[in-house]
Amino acid sequence: MESAVTKFLFVTDLDNTLVGDDRALVELSELLQQHRQQHGTKIVYSTGRSPFLYRELQQEKNLIQPDALVVSVGTEIYVDGSDTPDSDWSKILAPGWDKQAILNITKKFSELVLQPETEQRPFKVSFFLEQKASCDILPQLEEEFKNSELNIKLIYSSGIDLDILPLSSDKGQAMQFLRQKWQFASEQTVVCGDSGNDIALFAVGNERGIIVGNARPELLQWHQQNPADYRYLAQNYCAAGILEGLKYFSFLE
Ligand code: GLC
Ligand code: MG
Repeated sequence: MESAVTKFLFVTDLDNTLVGDDRALVELSELLQQHRQQHGTKIVYSTGRSPFLYRELQQEKNLIQPDALVVSVGTEIYVDGSDTPDSDWSKILAPGWDKQAILNITKKFSELVLQPETEQRPFKVSFFLEQKASCDILPQLEEEFKNSELNIKLIYSSGIDLDILPLSSDKGQAMQFLRQKWQFASEQTVVCGDSGNDIALFAVGNERGIIVGNARPELLQWHQQNPADYRYLAQNYCAAGILEGLKYFSFLE
């Protein structure tokens, strides 16, 4: 009988999703690598980190080489270990993107504290914003940007990180770009995450979704408000939660 096992597109966030349980990370990485060799499965990391902070984590945790690396919350895609970002993707993000115009608006808000220089990227402006202040500030910011007609989106994660990105960009859009490039059906695609900037991965289409057991309240709340049978909330944390979900969806035996 022919085996039902086939290749799939595996897309995962890093911090507190793939990374966070060292033993499960090693086990999952081995299984994924085998699957890639035997079936042509593709592995994609999708992180909020800049290339600089990604490299730090890659070395610290000895992460296996992905087939594509999506950094800076979906705004840069590096395929097959390339060190230049995919230019087709950059072309989609560039129209109307104006960093100076964004900073002119954000400087009115003293609660917004710029993140370190490494995390300011060609298509991403990032701040720290305390959770306490966020309930007041986020709606005001939304309003200011709406009036300015700058085509941007705000993404708030983990009660501290505020990212400003082009409207055409986020982790979900970047995932769709790769899915179409490599021709994977949404049923053969699985996305994994734990926090606010991962909501876009789950919300963009009907790809299979794994929310790890340690997910942040902003993602859990969104999941409760938008339940779907193609999304699975794992009991286990981090890579152990991913393993649980991959078995649930029969991507792994
Ligand atoms: C990572 C990035 C940071 C971003 C956060 C949330 O921590 O370094 O710039 O704000 O992810 O997306
Ligand atoms: Mg995370």
